[in-house]
Amino acid sequence: MKTINTMSIELKEHVPTVGDTLTIIQPDDWHVHLRDGAALEAVVADTARHYARAIVMPNLQPPVTTVAHAIQYREAILKAAEKAGVAKGSFEPLMTLYLTNNTSADEIVRVSETPGVQAVKLYPAGATTHSEAGVTDILKYCRVTLDMMQKKGVPLLVHGEVTDPEIDIFDREAVFIDRVMIPLRADFPELKVVFEHITTRDGAHYVRDSQGPIAATITPQHLLYNRNAIFKGGIRPHWYCLPILKRELHRQALVEAATSTSPRFFLGTDSAPHAKGQKEAACGCAGCYNALHAMSLYASAFEQAGQLNRLEAFASTRGPDFYGLPRNTKQMTLKRQNYVVPQYLPFIEGDTLVPLAAGETLTWMVAE
Ligand code: NCD
Ligand code: ZN
Repeated sequence: MKTINTMSIELKEHVPTVGDTLTIIQPDDWHVHLRDGAALEAVVADTARHYARAIVMPNLQPPVTTVAHAIQYREAILKAAEKAGVAKGSFEPLMTLYLTNNTSADEIVRVSETPGVQAVKLYPAGATTHSEAGVTDILKYCRVTLDMMQKKGVPLLVHGEVTDPEIDIFDREAVFIDRVMIPLRADFPELKVVFEHITTRDGAHYVRDSQGPIAATITPQHLLYNRNAIFKGGIRPHWYCLPILKRELHRQALVEAATSTSPRFFLGTDSAPHAKGQKEAACGCAGCYNALHAMSLYASAFEQAGQLNRLEAFASTRGPDFYGLPRNTKQMTLKRQNYVVPQYLPFIEGDTLVPLAAGETLTWMVAE
């Protein structure tokens, strides 16, 4: 059984000293898209270089819906990492299953018995990239599955947006809380839930004020930018991700949550690579690539809030504590040094990858 520390215990947070360098326990990324094939080989080292572990999203084509597929995918990731020069044993992918209307309780039992397969991801059908096979009505089709997850301590990772086309895109997270999250957690109060990549004050306050085992991940883009970034001087597709960037008041609430002492908010980059040509298109893909420099971006956000000393808790201790996994023993040092984000990176044959905030100067770097 996968267990977690109860959320009523405020874990003691070690406060690292902050000067021109900041040394923290090595972080983990609790939400990342590594893709497969050539794209996987192109991006995996960026994640493996900085994070000891990563919760790997299952929205491949076809999606990762079985433990057997998750194990296969895990091996492909490890192989790609080795090929990309990542030292053996230095990076551990934690796999997730893609929940469908048909995911069986037996499959959940297999998840709970398989080391390295950690959680189950809910994509409401149609909510985001490769979510066509997702769940159409979780409370109608997935009750037996959820019951087993609750029983076995398997966390449910939630893409928390309704897909109702009547609902304004900027309101989809708030409406999801009322229509899905609250009824779901009322029926399964012991189910461990991670509200992934929260983007609103509604999301942050809901998680902060809830009872029971719930936490949330927050991306660097939602901490640093508001929706103006998508439209500054023209339409800028590399700032487009889902859930979409929101108003400034929401960004401020996310910063407040991330830099608070609540054990419920932790790092999840949602790094989601798409080829430049797929983003700069009449109907461009959602997803920001930040695996390369998310730690620099997070450090900037925490510094701007005057809370750099809380970065370690957010990046390195609250995540493993929630998942019931040991904290990492290695450390990471960040240094105050200007770093210009590359305009593009090598990606799949015939196309490149444009990182988030390409060309901008960041003021913190990971000391390699
Ligand atoms: C993700 C992707 O590209 O896989 N895109 C995104 O905008 N975040 C899917 C997701 O996490 O919603
Ligand atoms: Zn994602």
